[in-house]
Amino acid sequence: MIVLKHADLIKQMTLEEKAHLLSGRDFWQTQSVRRLSIENMTLSDGPHGIRKQEGAGDQLGLNGSVPATCYPTAATMANSWDPELGEELGRHLGKEAAAQDVCVLLGPGLNIKRSPFCGRNFEYFSEDPYLAGKMAAGYIRGIQANGVSACPKHFAANNTELRRMASNSVVDERTLREIYLTNFEIAVREGHPKSIMSSYNMVNGVYANENAHLLQEILRDTWGFDGFVVSDWGANNDFTEGVRAGSHLEMPSTGGDGPRQLMKAVADGKIKEDEIDVRVDELLDVMLSTRAAVDPLKGTGFDKDEHHEFAQKASEQSIVLLKNEDNILPLKKGSKVAVIGEFAQKARYQGAGSSVVNCTKLDNTMDVIGNFDLEVVGFEAGYPRHGDPDPEMQRKAAELAKMADYVLLYIGLDEISESEGLDRSTLALPKCQTELLTEVVKANPNVIVVMSAGSSVEMPWIDQVKGLVHGYLCGQAGAGAVLKVILGEVNPSGKLSESYPFKYEDCSSAPYFPAKERSVEYREGLYVGYRYYDTAKIPVLFPFGFGLSYTAFDYSDIKADDKKVSFTLKNTGDRDGAEVAQLYVHAVNPSVYRPNKELKGFQKVFLKAGESKTVTIPLDDKAFRYWNSKTNRFEIDGGEYELLVGASSEDIRLKASVQVQGSGAPACEDREKLKSYWNCDIKAVSDLEFGELLGHRIPDGKWSGMIQANDAIAQLYYAKALKARFVWKIMTAMLNKSIEKGEPDLNITFIYNMPIRAIGKMAGGMVSQEMCDGILDIINGHGIALLKGLGKIIGGFFKQMGVSKKQKALE
Ligand code: BGC
Repeated sequence: MIVLKHADLIKQMTLEEKAHLLSGRDFWQTQSVRRLSIENMTLSDGPHGIRKQEGAGDQLGLNGSVPATCYPTAATMANSWDPELGEELGRHLGKEAAAQDVCVLLGPGLNIKRSPFCGRNFEYFSEDPYLAGKMAAGYIRGIQANGVSACPKHFAANNTELRRMASNSVVDERTLREIYLTNFEIAVREGHPKSIMSSYNMVNGVYANENAHLLQEILRDTWGFDGFVVSDWGANNDFTEGVRAGSHLEMPSTGGDGPRQLMKAVADGKIKEDEIDVRVDELLDVMLSTRAAVDPLKGTGFDKDEHHEFAQKASEQSIVLLKNEDNILPLKKGSKVAVIGEFAQKARYQGAGSSVVNCTKLDNTMDVIGNFDLEVVGFEAGYPRHGDPDPEMQRKAAELAKMADYVLLYIGLDEISESEGLDRSTLALPKCQTELLTEVVKANPNVIVVMSAGSSVEMPWIDQVKGLVHGYLCGQAGAGAVLKVILGEVNPSGKLSESYPFKYEDCSSAPYFPAKERSVEYREGLYVGYRYYDTAKIPVLFPFGFGLSYTAFDYSDIKADDKKVSFTLKNTGDRDGAEVAQLYVHAVNPSVYRPNKELKGFQKVFLKAGESKTVTIPLDDKAFRYWNSKTNRFEIDGGEYELLVGASSEDIRLKASVQVQGSGAPACEDREKLKSYWNCDIKAVSDLEFGELLGHRIPDGKWSGMIQANDAIAQLYYAKALKARFVWKIMTAMLNKSIEKGEPDLNITFIYNMPIRAIGKMAGGMVSQEMCDGILDIINGHGIALLKGLGKIIGGFFKQMGVSKKQKALE
């Protein structure tokens, strides 16, 4: 028998009130039940600043949002390898959220960077689940410190933007558990979030928001999650199935359509009211506690200057120095520099999409460089923000470069190159920038590149430049942080949280990304990022975990057992600095295929010049485990393991061997049948092998060409009705136009990837599911079907009007 915490309250609620509580009141707020003093909560994006919309919400930012601090994005912060810094950032976010009466902050985002092409990588931490999980847990603890609820997202296996609302992630259970869930497991177990966001996609054939395996068995029963699950905006496929599986809140409002379906399901005996009570109880628990915490804080404001300063500090700790030939950096005080690059004039400091923050202020390099001890000979933009190379701009830049001793060249990805709703199609920087680089280097060989980009890029030009400072997307105060690094006021200590391949084709997922039809097949299995490059011995431009410092560190005296590793770390240079020491584990004789080494611990250690410290990294429950598909749980192979301590995934400085007691599980893999995996030859995994890895037949991802409720609008290209194809044509033209303009139009990318059923979910109650069915009939049919479709739309419209009115009356 389940004991409800809020049984008294729930007893007094009608079924209608309960059903409505489980669905949003509008774009950002939950319902309230005023007669029982149940007040609504506001949810806001996230993740690196608060995006609370003024006036009517529309998710996609048509209405401006209240000014808030724009902190470095997750991809940037992960390079700090400092969960405590993440926690501090979380505390700042939590403070701003509460001050704006936001009860639930929609972040952090922690999906794994399976492919560098995922358009949303800038919002995610890492290609490694351990690092991503630890950083996310830090953020969550910080956000929740004052009682606001964090909402880690997007749970789970949501690693692509293309047709993100309509795709099916086909991934074997072991890969799912070890790579795509371990990050969430750490975040949940160590951060204790009060809510979590289910993703748009299906996972192995079941929508994440109605996936009981994910939401109930794993999240709640195994990890002990006791908060509520909110659907990503429009991700609720079947309301009743969602509630049954463990989802609590449909967002945004469907104008009462979802609750109507739920009540009907109760009447039809498809779900029991008791089951609904459990969800209501779990949701209420967070609503009540969060409201109680936020009420006294709302309207209290926050110290904008202090938050700006913290944003700068966070950025300072995350900047990665990737190249420093001839120790060109740090520059001496008073150095004569030419500043070149449009990004120095107008910073590229955050990504595009639902995470866009209306920042309280913005430091552009050219605005703040006067505060630094540099002799600036001038500035040239050098390239148009978006578009073709401009020879005249290049000429002027080269002229300027000749007048200085050093060139600070600000380049990177432009706004359209990485965005929510749009995957990338190249790792290259825009041509207008690379051509400029060549011209500038000809004029002055002392070029230091300052890079702004939220995910990895290829750098065929790297040999031409002497320095490379990567600021990632460093938030509203990043410009000063970068200049401090350039002048040595800050000793860089960031290390890459993702690998930089020489070229896209080197990535393990390249043959399988993007998904061609319905299925996104994770055929590369566990070989994601460095797990692949390292095992397959594919050279990379910059390895995972890499980053330079102005000082040097020496590693010695390793001691290890199966519980911990300790060693001495010494700063052997003449500057204070911090080192991220990394611990990787290599299984010597595994019973299952394994990447050569995997990150299982790390520590950021600050050392004064000449100082040394003993560093101890504990080995936790994740250090040796693997997912056993026979016993259906994590097991440990007994035997020898190598513990590798180093400064990056490639730069291992110390090694120790330990014997580990196994859990005695039966072997679960047939090596012969998984040869490609054992040999790490996963670029052309056969159907037979992938089926073997999955443990069942590969689901048929083929698409018949008939448009169904869960097909994306992008697929209207194949529709039977001429009008629907026309809609596709217009949408595609609009999308291409926005790409040409260089400004991602999230409304278009969003609608483009949206399935037909989501029209109902996103239209704020204007369109019911019945009306969506009508639209489908029209898309697919002629004659009778067309008439039937129109009938459904008109009938559904009047019914929905009644439901919406009732919903308003409830408030
Ligand atoms: C995004 C979420 C975001 C939500 C609300 C969705 O499209 O995937 O990350 O929190 O919109 O803006």
